[in-house]
Amino acid sequence: MVKPKVYVTRMIPQAGLDMVRTFCETDVWEEETPPPREVLLQKVQGIDGLLALLTDTIDAALMDAAGPQLRVISNYAVGYDNVDVAAATVRGILVTNTPGVLTDTTADFAFTLLMAAARRVVEGMDYIRAGKWLTWGPTLLLGQDIHHATLGIIGMGRIGSGMARRAQGFEMRVLYYDPYCRKEKGEEVGAECVDLDTLLAESDFVSVHVPLTPETYHMLGAEQFRKMKPSAILINTARGPIVDSDALYEALKNGEIAYAALDVTEPEPLPADHKLLTLPNIIICPHIASASVITRTKMATMAAENLIAGLKGEMPPYPVNPEVLLHPK
Ligand code: DGY
Repeated sequence: MVKPKVYVTRMIPQAGLDMVRTFCETDVWEEETPPPREVLLQKVQGIDGLLALLTDTIDAALMDAAGPQLRVISNYAVGYDNVDVAAATVRGILVTNTPGVLTDTTADFAFTLLMAAARRVVEGMDYIRAGKWLTWGPTLLLGQDIHHATLGIIGMGRIGSGMARRAQGFEMRVLYYDPYCRKEKGEEVGAECVDLDTLLAESDFVSVHVPLTPETYHMLGAEQFRKMKPSAILINTARGPIVDSDALYEALKNGEIAYAALDVTEPEPLPADHKLLTLPNIIICPHIASASVITRTKMATMAAENLIAGLKGEMPPYPVNPEVLLHPK
């Protein structure tokens, strides 16, 4: 039997790669950084399936470069803002993602960032490394309490709900804003649905959990930072461009808000000489919220299952555009 041809744009955990290799004729980009655009355009020619990462721009031009035999694009991520889903749908190409498996790991990390910022963990380490630790001090590195504080969650989906559940353990008041703001969603996790302005005005911590879409691009900018408490801490583990980086820099520099803890940035990767890195009141991590061994392995096997099912003409476990199979043209 002729195996379907697939291209995998980076080394993913072995378990997933083994599944793909068993079923497909597989070409893998083995470098640490993503394949350059011109390489990707050339590598996809004639493939039946593509296993892509959030660092790859999968647009109409790339789909056309692949050719009409391309049946499935399996994205190794829950977010799929890197894929032009509408362009895939009109071409009859299935797009899939990896929801669910990374919910708790990502919520764990969002809460880690919240705590690290509130209690100035990274500054503490820097202080010692700089040889400044001379004695115990009554006012040394004073931070903010987490327990009984108010957490505002923007986006009460799977990860936002996970964040709310974690907050319950700290007896926090939890507010949420969601475009759909379905009451029962928040009630299940002890959160109160409010409008965005109320959330910004009343929260000690604001944590972002919406997908990046044209509607959420720069959803938090200068105007929103002005509405937040000067003591507020912003956490973003969703996508960088939801927050206006320039406005965030000004807000942190001018004390409009107290601190930011980001796992995602605009741009990404963030250059080492970026102005955000000159600020003392920020923690930035290189997009690692889902990066546990177990979760990244599950994402790999899930992406492989999606890819293989799509190549077989079956409904994949996690389709983004199931209409491609349900209502074929
Ligand atoms: C995703 O899956 O969208 C995360 O950003 C990376 O795991």
